[in-house]
Amino acid sequence: MIKTIEYIDGVVRMIDQTRLPLEKVFVDCKTIEDVDNAIRTMVVRGAPAIGVSAAMGVSLGAESIQADNFDAFYVKLESKCSALAKSRPTAVNLAWGIERMKRVTLDSKNLSIPELKQRLKKEALDICEEDIAANKAMGDFGQTFIDDGNTVLTHCNAGALATAGYGTALGVIRSAVNAGKKIKVLADETRPFLQGARLTVWELMEDNIPVKLITDNMSGFFMKNNQIDVVVVGADRIAGNGDVANKIGTYMVAVMAQKHGIPFYVAAPISTLDLSLSSGKEIPIEERSVDEVACFNNKRITPEGASVAHPAFDITSNDLVTAIITDKGIAKPPYTTSLKQLAGQ
Ligand code: MRU
Repeated sequence: MIKTIEYIDGVVRMIDQTRLPLEKVFVDCKTIEDVDNAIRTMVVRGAPAIGVSAAMGVSLGAESIQADNFDAFYVKLESKCSALAKSRPTAVNLAWGIERMKRVTLDSKNLSIPELKQRLKKEALDICEEDIAANKAMGDFGQTFIDDGNTVLTHCNAGALATAGYGTALGVIRSAVNAGKKIKVLADETRPFLQGARLTVWELMEDNIPVKLITDNMSGFFMKNNQIDVVVVGADRIAGNGDVANKIGTYMVAVMAQKHGIPFYVAAPISTLDLSLSSGKEIPIEERSVDEVACFNNKRITPEGASVAHPAFDITSNDLVTAIITDKGIAKPPYTTSLKQLAGQ
């Protein structure tokens, strides 16, 4: 399996997810600004992968700082962090990764500046390792919801490419396969950025997991014809009441799943919880360029001057979510209580 993100010798190397699956090329980020640009342009995407990249970006930013004392160092680091935090608004893992790096900095005031830079590099590498471990834990918990012979629908890409490795929703699928269950996956193409068609199908094929691509408007058809047993998706941010922000189109899938009595699971690490928000209404929804909708393969598909909208995420209300699979265990309704318990709050 190709590494999504690697931090070696002062370089954060990412597989360029805008070019997959046709080309496997890597982007080397040497500065925090390079990482910021990679997140904005979706070279790296997916909530946990954004969090890990941000932590590595902060470490690169720290490396570039010239300062004689801690206070001067921290002022410069904070300013770099606040710029990076603006790169994408919806996935809370971005802020989570940056805040964790800032906290470690503040807790390491006693170190010399070179030692502090080393400490931050170690923290970023730890965050990367912990993300893979969290995904495997979610896989163990979540695979119990998938039976031998099931067909699983997933939306967007919540796989190895959206994380440091293994994946959240696709991690659950991988663990079910590793447990010996013979399952099939239906992957929504996920217009307009095609994370499903380009990334989910690619990484499942790489692992020889049976996958079939469908367009976003087909899942109702397959549900009605009893051809989907379970839905598993990832998340970009989960509010305290269990409302889930995920890729645009997730809400439609959840509504259809409820209509057809199909369980709808969300797999996300604790770092994707935002318990400071009481409901999904408070989650900022990224508006991306309308050109991503108005064009396909760099060719315009609608008249010049046509009015186009592009909210990149939607909110699935908690009543549509059967359970939330986290790295600390399974949260069931009422989420206001269960999520707090799992987060240790
Ligand atoms: O815009 P993207 O590609 O960053 O959106 C990604 C998603 O919505 C994923 O489903 C989500 O981050 C879960 S990733 C494990």
